[in-house]
Amino acid sequence: MSHEHVSYLELLARGAATEAYDRPVLLARASGAGPETLAGLEEAKQLALRVRAELEGRRRREAELSALFATAHDLAGLRDLDAVLRAIVQRARALLGTEVAYLSLNDPAAGDTYMRVTEGSVSARFQQLRLGMGEGLGGLVAQTARPYVTDDYFDDERFQHTRTIDTAVRDEGLVAILGVPLTLGSQVIGVLFAADRRARVFEREQVALLGSFAAHAAVAIDTANLLAETRSALAELERANDIIRAHSAGIERAAEVHDRLSELVLRGGGVHDVTEAVSEVLGGTVEFTETTAGAVCWALYQAARTPEAGRRLAEECRPLLGTRAAGWDDLPHLPYTRQVLLEATRLNPPGWLVTRTATTDARLGAHHVPAGATLAYSPYLLAHLPGQYPDPDRFDPDRWAPGRQATDGPGRQIPASVFGGGARQCVGQDYALAEGVLMLASITARWKLRIDPEGPRQPRLPGLTLNPLRLHVTLAPTAPRP
Ligand code: HEM
Repeated sequence: MSHEHVSYLELLARGAATEAYDRPVLLARASGAGPETLAGLEEAKQLALRVRAELEGRRRREAELSALFATAHDLAGLRDLDAVLRAIVQRARALLGTEVAYLSLNDPAAGDTYMRVTEGSVSARFQQLRLGMGEGLGGLVAQTARPYVTDDYFDDERFQHTRTIDTAVRDEGLVAILGVPLTLGSQVIGVLFAADRRARVFEREQVALLGSFAAHAAVAIDTANLLAETRSALAELERANDIIRAHSAGIERAAEVHDRLSELVLRGGGVHDVTEAVSEVLGGTVEFTETTAGAVCWALYQAARTPEAGRRLAEECRPLLGTRAAGWDDLPHLPYTRQVLLEATRLNPPGWLVTRTATTDARLGAHHVPAGATLAYSPYLLAHLPGQYPDPDRFDPDRWAPGRQATDGPGRQIPASVFGGGARQCVGQDYALAEGVLMLASITARWKLRIDPEGPRQPRLPGLTLNPLRLHVTLAPTAPRP
């Protein structure tokens, strides 16, 4: 090997710049070397430059690969999905040295892929782009699960150009685009892109590099998704646990209260002892009030002062019951008794004032109701409104006779709002009506009532109920006592 040839090896070993490779030929020419020597040197120079390019390529690939591993390693450390996605596009952009990088995710429900994160993008239209499957470069990557690259997007006939996509790409000013699929197993979850605003050739190695990075990125996305799911499942479990704990504490407390109240009643405690115990348990003041007894009181009073109603009530109850108390099975045979009770509750509804709190701002007719305002309405006033019932102040149990129920709206069998309505409607309605009918029938069957001419003492208002304060009656047995 000649001295000149050795100098090329030295240049290679030094990693010299390309210009330095002209030097041995120039020196040989200056020192008067013959054409044969010069041709040999030229050939050696070309060979040395090829080796240099190959070494250069390997060095670059090695640098890219170590950047890839460092990046993949970083990604694996991120836990939050948004942070993972942002890191993916930032690093894709740095790996390929492009002006823009972006990532779209597939939306299986909509059957398309939508822009999720962009880096280096300036166009809002581009950042909100959705690509149908097969549309544009990204839609094609998402559909075929293969990388696609173009040096000049607008001149590339392989892609299905749509106006929306082209306008957005033009808005962003992109020319050269490389898209690689983000896949998990056989499923494409999105597309990772690197793009430039000038015509540029993406080399095969770079396509492969972004592809390898996308494989790591997809795993990082999957891990972040799984973590998010696990985290929300854990939070859900914690919430469920709290509810169960609160529930069982509630049940335990209710059982304790139940035991305490039962014991109180069994030891002969009265209503006042019970209300006192309940006040203590609830940590407030509990008042005791009667509703069904008040309703029965008004019914007895009205039946006694309305001869026809009193007669029909007695005719229904006395032959059926004799002197025994009414029981559950008698209920279907006491329709008129029920009508009397209903009509009495209409005229004097025990719950005469019902309140509601507005949860949001609302309009009621011409009125603005601010959130938090308390609204009150009165079943008593509603029942006495002219127009709501014909001759509203008259005690007429036949308003509730079968076929006549339309007086209070179609299909209504109970006076409107006497038991409230909606979510807070009285839970004891059916119980109260059954109990009231049985009480009214049992009393009527056994006793004739003579009302004190002064009538009931009117309830003192404002009070919780409309029960009469006192009703003086004289009782005469309907049949001799056995
Ligand atoms: C003739 C007898 C009764 C009348 C007229 C009556 C009337 C009412 C009224 C007007 C309300 C308010 C409803 C609302 O805000 O919309 C109510 C609530 C309630 N009533 Fe009665 N009631 C009677 C008997 C009973 C009985 C016997 C019980 C229990 C066995 C009972 C248990 C309740 C309960 C627990 C509520 C509160 C419901 C809630 O806020 O979720 N009621 N009642």
